[in-house]
Amino acid sequence: MTAEATATVAPSPGRTIHPAWVRITHWVNAAAIVVMIGSGWEIYNASPLFPFSFSRTITIGGWLAGALLWHFAAMWLFVVNGLVYVVLGLSTGRFRRQLLPIRPGEVVADVRAALTGQLTHDDLAVYNAVQKLLYLGVIVAGVVIVLSGLAIWKPVQLQELTAALGGYDWARYVHFFAMATIVGFLLIHVVMAFVVPKSLRAMIIGR
Ligand code: HEM
Ligand code: HEM
Repeated sequence: MTAEATATVAPSPGRTIHPAWVRITHWVNAAAIVVMIGSGWEIYNASPLFPFSFSRTITIGGWLAGALLWHFAAMWLFVVNGLVYVVLGLSTGRFRRQLLPIRPGEVVADVRAALTGQLTHDDLAVYNAVQKLLYLGVIVAGVVIVLSGLAIWKPVQLQELTAALGGYDWARYVHFFAMATIVGFLLIHVVMAFVVPKSLRAMIIGR
């Protein structure tokens, strides 16, 4: 291989780690999901599934009707943006390249390394097995929350979907637990972004 060819293949400090479409859809999604979670919590408060409510200081919408308006407005942003990300992720081969394969052995080894402080983030363009699992997991949670959301939004028009989720009441629980999964992911994800600030920089400016 010539020196020139090597230079284009080998990692160099100036190369793009995350293409623009990933960065744009990532941050649009982050904004949309904050509104979806905040308004969802206010909707939940109107008829709680469990013996607790969310503090009004962290909900969006002020009351049930306001929260529903926010939920259904941000829903379009969330779904359209998510579709762009998933279609491009599949068609460009990014998902296959970055998020697969996930080998259980590697997950165990990387969790162990992370807990003992030995997991490095030398090459930000390559995700470790734990990252792959979490990113793929949250993408699946995103699909589940949209399907269960549609099932409780249009239970008559989409009755097959609602039935597939076990009926209206079960679909509500599915929707709630998908939210809880996403919130759990976010807690870890945001902490990690600040523990490894160069990864945050790469998700903002691409390098
Ligand atoms: C296509 C997307 C979505 C649709 C159509 C949708 C629809 C709905 C509907 C109709 C309700 C009211 C349920 C009821 O009356 O009990 C609801 C509640 C809720 N949504 Fe969504 N939603 C979507 C996405 C999301 C997302 C992305 C999140 C958060 C990550 C979320 C979180 C919640 C929460 C926490 C509730 C309250 C749960 C409950 O008590 O039933 N939703 N959603
Ligand atoms: C303020 C909130 C957020 C911050 C600071 C943040 C930060 C980051 C950073 C720094 C990366 C690069 C990751 C790396 O090198 O490991 C990343 C990737 C990613 N984030 Fe976030 N994120 C946020 C919100 C979210 C939300 C709400 C979701 C989804 C529910 C999400 C899903 C993802 C996914 C799936 C990737 C991998 C993207 C890809 O490579 O195609 N993030 N995030």
